Amino acid sequence: MTNLTFTMIKPDAVENSHIGAILNKINSSGFEFKAMKLTKLSREEAEKFYEIHSERPFFNDLVKYMSSGPIVAAILKKENAVNDFRKLIGSTNPAEAEEGTIRKMFATSISANAIHGSDSDANAKIEGGFFFQNHEIF
Ligand code: CMP
Repeated sequence: MTNLTFTMIKPDAVENSHIGAILNKINSSGFEFKAMKLTKLSREEAEKFYEIHSERPFFNDLVKYMSSGPIVAAILKKENAVNDFRKLIGSTNPAEAEEGTIRKMFATSISANAIHGSDSDANAKIEGGFFFQNHEIF
């Protein structure tokens, strides 16, 4: 899945009407949309998606928050997609995110941090597959 990454615009950013601005920023940064949907995670789906964090102290709050409202899930394409997208969104904690990054511009806290970006090609494939079938991507 080289050159592809997975993203979610999180409930805080959807609730605060930032979908348009964030998609525009992603697009104008050279990413092509290969698949996209507005959807909502059930508590069980959020638990499954974030299974990797199940031992973390913030797991319950994370699951509750990510299933609290609509999200936008998308597959993005660009050369070096995973790393370039992580740069575009900035640090997990928006207080530490660089100027001009999506989290600096739109996130409110470390949990309500506006957007998700996969941290590896392998996770992009797993996370993208959670929301989309291959035939929707290619
Ligand atoms: P993301 O990297 O998209 O996926 C895991 C999420 O867990 C992360 O964004 C944060 O929103 C959240 N998270 C990570 N660390 C903390 C923390 N210390 N406290 C609360 N939430 C966290």
